[in-house]
Amino acid sequence: MKLLVINGPNLNMLGIREPDIYGSQTYADLEGFIHHAAVECGIQVEVFQSNHEGDIVDKIQWAYGKMDGIIINPAAYTHTSIAILDALKAVSLPCVEVHLSDVRQREPFRQVSYAGMACETSFIGLGFEGYRKAIQHFTKKG
Ligand code: DQA
Repeated sequence: MKLLVINGPNLNMLGIREPDIYGSQTYADLEGFIHHAAVECGIQVEVFQSNHEGDIVDKIQWAYGKMDGIIINPAAYTHTSIAILDALKAVSLPCVEVHLSDVRQREPFRQVSYAGMACETSFIGLGFEGYRKAIQHFTKKG
């Protein structure tokens, strides 16, 4: 099984950005965590990060016919991007949404998730562990 993990804008700033919300671990730490979880679960993973909405749309389209599923943390684009929602629907790959922080307990503008509308499930507010749970969601389905 091959999964594509997509991380959206400002997640490359982990460790620097708002550590009270996102913690002190860096984006490199997150990539390492995801690769380790993938090995543990016996699957292949490709991890992609971009600050650009169109690049994320391109990567989702690229996954069509190559990947078995997508794990996505669209970051701020979660709450704004119909283009990312449409791309996920277009490729029709099974998709799981992850957020490091508990967006449900944050500002009103974070209460909508467009990408989430194309996802089978979401892991929210579990920090890095949410990515492991997302991988396990795919491997448990077998
Ligand atoms: C986030 C939550 C979003 O609201 C925010 O814009 C992010 C990160 C999270 O992982 O908690 O950049 O997706």
